[in-house]
Amino acid sequence: MQEKIQQLKEQLLQELEQIKEAQAVIDLQEKYFSKKGLFTTLSKDLKDVADDIRPKVGALLHDVKTQLQADVAQKLSTYGDVLKTSFQDAWIDTSIATPDYKLGNIHPMSVMMQELEDAFSAMGFMTLDGPEIESDYYNFEALNMPSWHPARDSQDTFYVDSKGKCPWVMRTHTSGVQVRAMQKYGAPLRMVAHGRVYRNEATDITHDHTFHQIEGLLIDKNISVAHLIGTLQELISTVYKKDVKIRLRPGYFPFVEPGFELDMYSDELGWVEIGGAGMVHPHVITAGGLDPNEYQGFAFGMGVTRLLMLKYKISDIRLLSSADIRFLQQF
Ligand code: DAH
Repeated sequence: MQEKIQQLKEQLLQELEQIKEAQAVIDLQEKYFSKKGLFTTLSKDLKDVADDIRPKVGALLHDVKTQLQADVAQKLSTYGDVLKTSFQDAWIDTSIATPDYKLGNIHPMSVMMQELEDAFSAMGFMTLDGPEIESDYYNFEALNMPSWHPARDSQDTFYVDSKGKCPWVMRTHTSGVQVRAMQKYGAPLRMVAHGRVYRNEATDITHDHTFHQIEGLLIDKNISVAHLIGTLQELISTVYKKDVKIRLRPGYFPFVEPGFELDMYSDELGWVEIGGAGMVHPHVITAGGLDPNEYQGFAFGMGVTRLLMLKYKISDIRLLSSADIRFLQQF
């Protein structure tokens, strides 16, 4: 065995001497040191060596191999500038005109969503996703809006054929994620969910059948309207990058009590409604699997589309889904 090790060593060194290019060194590495390489094969014979000298032979094999690997690596490094020279030799025609590629940009809606997400995560809110085709249960029922409730009328939407089973709808708001989140994560809880919502509402150029909302929910102990106002104020100022006045007006939403309409002040338009908010209704907390005597919380939902239109003074909502490059390139 010792002899075989010596032979293999000499054979390798001889081959290495004659090598004149990097690829041949790589091939040699493969030949000797890979899984099926000659050294690997040789090491399998160790088991046939007599017990008393096996440790010595093993150590020899190891040392020889390590030294040779270093020699081979050293040889390879002498070809280090192979690439450099081949680039220098290449002939590049710098006079050929390059194609006129136009770089795209991120849609302003995505940018605003990202900013909102950042602002919320800085306040410890996790971002969740919810399904855009939502069950009647999460979209309405669990939010204290049973099938007979008149508040459903203001959120007409597409109903998805469910063959007589529990109906599914194109979600009319992001509020359905509230109950899903409580069921999944329990309390205390801070979460936001944003995304597309759908309504039979394309009545003028400021309303579309599809738009974006962001929903927030905080559930904990001893939570009050003051926490809600503080959170919203911080958020709106972050998005607009200046102090923006907001106000709450009494408003009715079945899933909060008390409930508010949320307005922000715009220099051009005065007070503009941007969403709804309130203290989460005990029925909703119960639907989320929590005890309303133990936990309270606030919730709010805002039209991100509306926020975006106000921020950039966009008057026609359809531009946002138009993919018109003249419009999009302005951002
Ligand atoms: N989901 C309501 C809408 O789309 C907005 C809303 C109001 C969300 C009050 C809330 C809330 O979370 O507490 O009109």
